[in-house]
Amino acid sequence: MMLQSGRLVAFPTETVYGLGANAKDGDAVAAIYAAKTRPSFNPLIVHVASLAQAEALARFDDNARALAQAFWPGPMSLVLPLKPDHGLSSLVTAGLETVAIRMPAQPLARKLLTLADCPVAAPSANPSGQISPTTAAHVLDGLSGRIDAVLDGGPCDVGVESTIISTNPLRLLRHGGLPAEALEAALGCSLMQDLNPDIPAAPGQLTSHYAPDAQVVLNQLEGDLMLGFGDVGGQLNLSPSGDLHEAAANLFAMLRQMDKLAKGANGAGQFTVAPIPMTGLGLAINDRLTRAAAPRSG
Ligand code: TXA
Ligand code: MG
Repeated sequence: MMLQSGRLVAFPTETVYGLGANAKDGDAVAAIYAAKTRPSFNPLIVHVASLAQAEALARFDDNARALAQAFWPGPMSLVLPLKPDHGLSSLVTAGLETVAIRMPAQPLARKLLTLADCPVAAPSANPSGQISPTTAAHVLDGLSGRIDAVLDGGPCDVGVESTIISTNPLRLLRHGGLPAEALEAALGCSLMQDLNPDIPAAPGQLTSHYAPDAQVVLNQLEGDLMLGFGDVGGQLNLSPSGDLHEAAANLFAMLRQMDKLAKGANGAGQFTVAPIPMTGLGLAINDRLTRAAAPRSG
């Protein structure tokens, strides 16, 4: 099994493709950071096949257990206090006292995690700061030659990364594939958010991220080169019927396509994006678009 012998294996999840390594193998985890050129202060999500595997790593309080029961397997990551004898490489957590854990639902991911029989650290399988991959071809575009294998499970169903929530204290850290409304309904209370990208509680929430080469201008009703939504047309349209699930599933692939069109059309490279409603998955979509449009830090 490649993961057990310290190799890097990219694999599909329902959100985006991950770049996996054995989370207990420090050298393998270091190789993830190197392949992505990811800053080492930005911790990784640990993927598990079962609740028992998660409970060997971290402490679950009542809220954590309720959320796991309601939404695992699925597009949600829980940030939980580490147990003393977790055995994870300290690189995975970037030295924090907490760990982000996720149980994906995608069938190939579940098969891989069950066979690997170890917790698998996996960030999105793209070079740091670039657009997340939702197909195996996207993974190879960015990381070919730097990883050992990629499992091809076709395009990802959800298309944006997992929602991240900490339970101690109870905070939403990243909008994602599980809408905040669903979390709040399960918890029976409204969620405080801790999404400030300048003082990140999820350290990966750097302002510029998911960045195409082209300049991106949001919330426009027209433009020469335009990514549309609903009635607001465009060369490409995230969802002509205005369906936010369809839009999320199309988001990263269409950002890549728009980037190519922009390079061909206006050299300098710029495209506009139609307004996306701020409800349900629209919050995650707008979050990713805002980062794609943010000034680059370099
Ligand atoms: O859908 C997903 O979550 C995908 C798939 C592959 O599972 N993974 C993913 O990983 O998006 P990545 O590395 O691109 O994003 C992980 C995020 C980062 O923002 C990181 O800062 C945050 O999780 N994170 C990890 N551990 C954390 C912790 N202990 N406390 C707070 N945030 C944490
Ligand atoms: Mg990422």
